[in-house]
Amino acid sequence: MWLCKSSIGKKVVMSVTGLCLIFFVTFHLSMNTAAIFSGKAYDEICAFLGANWYAVVLSIGLAAIIIIHFLYAIVLTAENRKARGDKRYLGQKRPKGVDWASQNMFVLGIIIVLFIFLHLWMFWHKMMFAELMGESLVPLGNEMVTPHSGAAFINYYFKGNWFITLIYLIWFLALWFHMTHGFWSSIQTLGWSNVVWIKRWKVICTIVTTCLCGWFAIITIIFFINGTGNL
Ligand code: HEM
Repeated sequence: MWLCKSSIGKKVVMSVTGLCLIFFVTFHLSMNTAAIFSGKAYDEICAFLGANWYAVVLSIGLAAIIIIHFLYAIVLTAENRKARGDKRYLGQKRPKGVDWASQNMFVLGIIIVLFIFLHLWMFWHKMMFAELMGESLVPLGNEMVTPHSGAAFINYYFKGNWFITLIYLIWFLALWFHMTHGFWSSIQTLGWSNVVWIKRWKVICTIVTTCLCGWFAIITIIFFINGTGNL
């Protein structure tokens, strides 16, 4: 099929799945924003998005999108390297106008995926997964909490813990580089730009990505200093 075989078809799949992931990141950020104001509200959101059928269906869809995006990235990167032959090993300088992120998308993607595994182990595994396994209480430090206690998880991992906070900030930086390039590049692949608009899209995508990743960084620092809100 065209989407699996042709190079442009594969790029379309990368672009559509990438845009879906940007949508998820935006949704996830708005959900986490609630936690800086109210730990209780955050727990209610976690309960709503717990092991309910609609949340499980969305999680399976999200996992499928991440896997497709990752597998196609491997195939496209391998094809690009094959097409370029040994040239990339000759120590040539980066061509003018080509940004650093565009040449390191695959490595950045791997870094992001590794952080996602860590993140899923820290949160999702002890929350939605535990609930799906029928556990009504999960261990958190010396305590037992319900799998919906998102605020307790955030406070446990981030409050006063500079190491986890730093790790997350590095993750958001990698995400920023990956998304700034991936965002406008997807728009270009889908044919929604021209010579004039591509420059504008680059600026728009950089601003949107900076707002998203910057806000993730700010709320993580708030969790580090204050923990979740008391409203
Ligand atoms: C301070 C930053 C973040 C916090 C506090 C946070 C918190 C959480 C929590 C509490 C869950 C579990 C929800 C549940 O199972 O009910 C979760 C799941 C998840 N998070 Fe995050 N998250 C953060 C950043 C991110 C970022 C930047 C990404 C992606 C790049 C991400 C990707 C995911 C994914 C893929 C899941 C699994 C979603 C699902 O299928 O249920 N998170 N996160």
